[in-house]
Amino acid sequence: MPRPLNVILDLTARCNLKCVMCHFSSADRLVFPPFDRSISDDGTLPVEVFERIAADLFPRAWRVALACAAEPMIHPRFREILAIAARYGVPDLWFPTNLLALTPATAASIVENRVTTVAASIDGFTKDTYEKIRVPAKWERLLACLDLLAAARRESGSKTPRLRIIFTWMKSNRGDLALLPEFAAAHGASEIDVRFVSPTEGVDVGPQLLSDEDPEALNAELAAVAHEAVRRGLRLASFPQFESRATRPRGLAARAARRLWRMRAGLDRLEYLRYAWYRRVNGCAYPGRNYVIRPNGAVHPCNYWNADPIGFYPQDGIGAIAAGAPLARILEGLRTGRPVGTCDGCQERGFTTMYRLRSGASTRAATARLPTHPG
Ligand SMILES: C[S@@+](CC[C@H](N)C(=O)[O-])C[C@H]1O[C@@H](n2cnc3c(N)ncnc32)[C@H](O)[C@@H]1O
Ligand code: SF4
Repeated sequence: MPRPLNVILDLTARCNLKCVMCHFSSADRLVFPPFDRSISDDGTLPVEVFERIAADLFPRAWRVALACAAEPMIHPRFREILAIAARYGVPDLWFPTNLLALTPATAASIVENRVTTVAASIDGFTKDTYEKIRVPAKWERLLACLDLLAAARRESGSKTPRLRIIFTWMKSNRGDLALLPEFAAAHGASEIDVRFVSPTEGVDVGPQLLSDEDPEALNAELAAVAHEAVRRGLRLASFPQFESRATRPRGLAARAARRLWRMRAGLDRLEYLRYAWYRRVNGCAYPGRNYVIRPNGAVHPCNYWNADPIGFYPQDGIGAIAAGAPLARILEGLRTGRPVGTCDGCQERGFTTMYRLRSGASTRAATARLPTHPG
């Protein structure tokens, strides 16, 4: 069966941390429209609803993210969730996490259920920086969790999960970016994901933005880190744009070398060409191929959508949602150049890649939104 879908879910509306740049620094629980709808008292996605979503979507998904805006591993039945997900052999099953709720049993279950990638968010590489950002996390606990995951993988002789480290760059960890390649390699990571801190609902990230800094200095630092990471064998799962037209090499040989390096780094990949094609043909790459499911069961056509959902789990199935009037209106609006709902004015529509790579100057997003890793 073809697998055209990218599914992004949140298993819970909560987190065990209150990171300084995150919506959880000012809220205990995330709420999603329609605000009067909930399918559990504690904000977790019921396992029975997850089971229905998985049966509907996962057989046709090439990528599934088990988290987006909240912390997946605090779901009280996380191991059952992994076992259900494993039934469908999704080629890219992954989740972002702060890793701190990892136990030996969860680590074993992650390996056993063939999670492809665990993306650990680590925004500082000294105890001081890490603990100032990831409140109230403890550096020693993070290191113990990294060891636990590595041991589970080693003991089972498994190549998965790959470890990705996500680093959100901001004033508080301005100097730590340079330490990322060494830390990642030392802890057995195979990928890194670097993003600028961005405006977020309910949080004043103004003091953390790097947008007042010299873009040339930021780009030079990004370039050095990218090259050092690739030299150490790390893939750049996502990385801010650090080249400008002016700094790109000229001449055939230099251009070819650059292209080869970017392919080796993971910055130029087939996935992006596919998105560019869908965007060209459909006006946007996401609706109809992306399904984003909030912990209240609301289904959105992409990660940026904040208007009415296009359906609800558990009562609607994917057949009804995919063929329904709300999605049809969105697709028609994009195709005809008369976008509706959040599409009207959306910044993502104009970009050719799934990951919107930010330059220093463009960290001032026009609209605040939930920070996520959309991949
Ligand atoms: C919201 S968290 C949810 C998953 C999990 N709790 C974690 O920390 O990875 C997803 C990612 O968003 C990043 N993030 C949080 N606030 C952000 C912001 N204001 N700008 C950019 N990224 C942000 C986090 O560092 C994390 O890598
Ligand atoms: S970044 Fe992740 S760990 Fe930190 S508060 Fe937000 S959701 Fe929780």
